[in-house]
Amino acid sequence: MKSLKHLNKYLVKYKYRLLLGFLFIILTNFFKIFPAQLIRESLNLIKDKLSGKEFSTTSLLTDYIQDLSIGETVVLYASIIFLIAIITGIFTFFQRQTIIIMSRLIEFDLKNEIFQHYQKLDSTFYKENNTGDIMNRISDDVLKTRMYLGPAIMYSFGLLSLFIMVVPVMFSINVKLAIYSLTPLPILSIIIYLVSARINKQSEKVQSKLSDITTLSQETYSGIRILKTYVKDRFFSSKLNSENEIYREYSMDLVKTNSLFFPVMMLLIGLSTIFTIYIGGTLLIEDAANPLIPENEKIKIGEILSFVIYINMLTWPVTAIGWVTSIIQRAAASQTRINAFLNTQPKVKNNSNEKLNLKGEINFNNVSFTYPESGIKALKNISFNIPQGKTLAIIGKTGSGKSSIINLLMRSYDVDSGEILIDKKDIKQININQLREHTGIVPQDVFLFSDTIENNIAFGYKNELPAKSTIEKAAKDAAIYSNIIELPDGFQTKIGERGVTLSGGQKQRISIARAIIKNPQILIFDDCLSAVDTETEDIILTNLKSLMKDKTSIIISHRVSSVKNADTIIVMHEGGIIEQGTHDELIQLKGSYYETYQIQLLESENKK
Ligand SMILES: Nc1ncnc2c1ncn2[C@@H]1O[C@H](COP(=O)(O)OP(=O)(O)OP(=O)(O)O)[C@@H](O)[C@H]1O
Ligand SMILES: [Mg+2]
Repeated sequence: MKSLKHLNKYLVKYKYRLLLGFLFIILTNFFKIFPAQLIRESLNLIKDKLSGKEFSTTSLLTDYIQDLSIGETVVLYASIIFLIAIITGIFTFFQRQTIIIMSRLIEFDLKNEIFQHYQKLDSTFYKENNTGDIMNRISDDVLKTRMYLGPAIMYSFGLLSLFIMVVPVMFSINVKLAIYSLTPLPILSIIIYLVSARINKQSEKVQSKLSDITTLSQETYSGIRILKTYVKDRFFSSKLNSENEIYREYSMDLVKTNSLFFPVMMLLIGLSTIFTIYIGGTLLIEDAANPLIPENEKIKIGEILSFVIYINMLTWPVTAIGWVTSIIQRAAASQTRINAFLNTQPKVKNNSNEKLNLKGEINFNNVSFTYPESGIKALKNISFNIPQGKTLAIIGKTGSGKSSIINLLMRSYDVDSGEILIDKKDIKQININQLREHTGIVPQDVFLFSDTIENNIAFGYKNELPAKSTIEKAAKDAAIYSNIIELPDGFQTKIGERGVTLSGGQKQRISIARAIIKNPQILIFDDCLSAVDTETEDIILTNLKSLMKDKTSIIISHRVSSVKNADTIIVMHEGGIIEQGTHDELIQLKGSYYETYQIQLLESENKK
């Protein structure tokens, strides 16, 4: 239950709504007491009237109804009861309007809190937790905590206040009958608790199976092309079938328990009513036969009827205890999960809020780095220097640590040892957001949004919409313009799930345009020309030369053709730098770079 403490700050924030809600609950319950009283009174009075006896019940209305006929008395009482019912209804409405709305507001705040926190967390967090979990915390789990804030608080307080008000009234009417008729209630609530705990367990099983099925079908559809080319439809169908079969079984179990729930509840409520009538009737007969009890202390028919009404009033909230207990348990479990995420602190911290006037000199001094989540030592003692306005190229076998250098430069992670300096300042002392804002990166895995081409390119721009000409210029520089205008909808073409499928090279170039439009001080190309032919590559690299005149660029590639014009080339191997220099120097060296160059030269000649 401790985890729910996190929500207290919100309860404090909305304290006036909550207190007002409590007030409405009290008022509702206060007015709920009267109808039973009035029915008891009217019944006793009418009975006395019929038998021509003195009135044995005292009432505010006794004098007034003395002169009324029986019919008029009934109408009078009925109207008062009706009026009270309307008042009770109005207060019930306000009670929901305050408390349930408060729970919705907190739900909103809590979702925002979690979302804000997600944005602060670094890549390690996103590697360690899968998307499904991250989504569930903010949707499903928040929903469960809302059930605690809304219904659970409302019903618990309602129950408490109802008991405090009704039970004394019952005892004031008849002690013996009060004790007897209240006894079955705790048993009722325990039984309901057991049944609803079972329902929760079963519905959780159903839920988790359902999410398995959703994941499976989602994967099937997004991978439908590969699935068809590998002729795996049968396999996936049978997999889905067996999952569905389990889902059906779980659902049937749940339905069985659910269908038991209401009959059992009704039976128990019915039994307690019968019990009250039986005990009341027995007492009435005993009292009537006992001459020692004064007339106005004897139990009468009106008393029994009012008890039946009170017991019925109490049984619903009592059954709600069981229900509320399980709501609170689930909310606590959900909040524990939410808190675990909220308490996760990003390992990479932003240590500065200063504005950055980035020039773009980059220094790596003896940098080593191991990925915390896999323990893979990706970089060993890396040192290099890129003066402002120069181009560095990184080449090396797959898995040699090229992208890892970029991860560190963008502070997706922090170095284990050594230091990275930007404009001679330790990268840890630089405002991360500013650094990222001034850097244009084309990542190795292209990611495009399911949106128009125009919006995908414009995404790189500041927080405003760029002019059409700016977007077109970026597209031209990325050598994708002619491809775009050939499409029927041009820049307005939708790409992604429900749109046009672009080729790998086209996607890479849109991704390049997105980075270029930013007009960044540092530009990074991570292997993003791999799916582009050498001619187009040449065009793009030539365009870059003029675009990035006084700016720093880093180009990562497997191809010598992409890197040969760089000011410095470093050759990576197993996390370390094995060669470093200009193209000509490295050719002279006749080492690994030279070898790669020869092989690729041969390949391109063979193609011709
Ligand atoms: N996010 C990550 N978490 C854990 N290990 C990683 C992560 N990214 C890379 N690695 C590991 O670090 C090593 C270096 O990977 P890196 O991505 O830097 O290689 P690369 O030179 O960019 O390769 P490629 O040319 O295939 O892109 C690899 O062994 C890889 O498995
Ligand atoms: Mg890489």
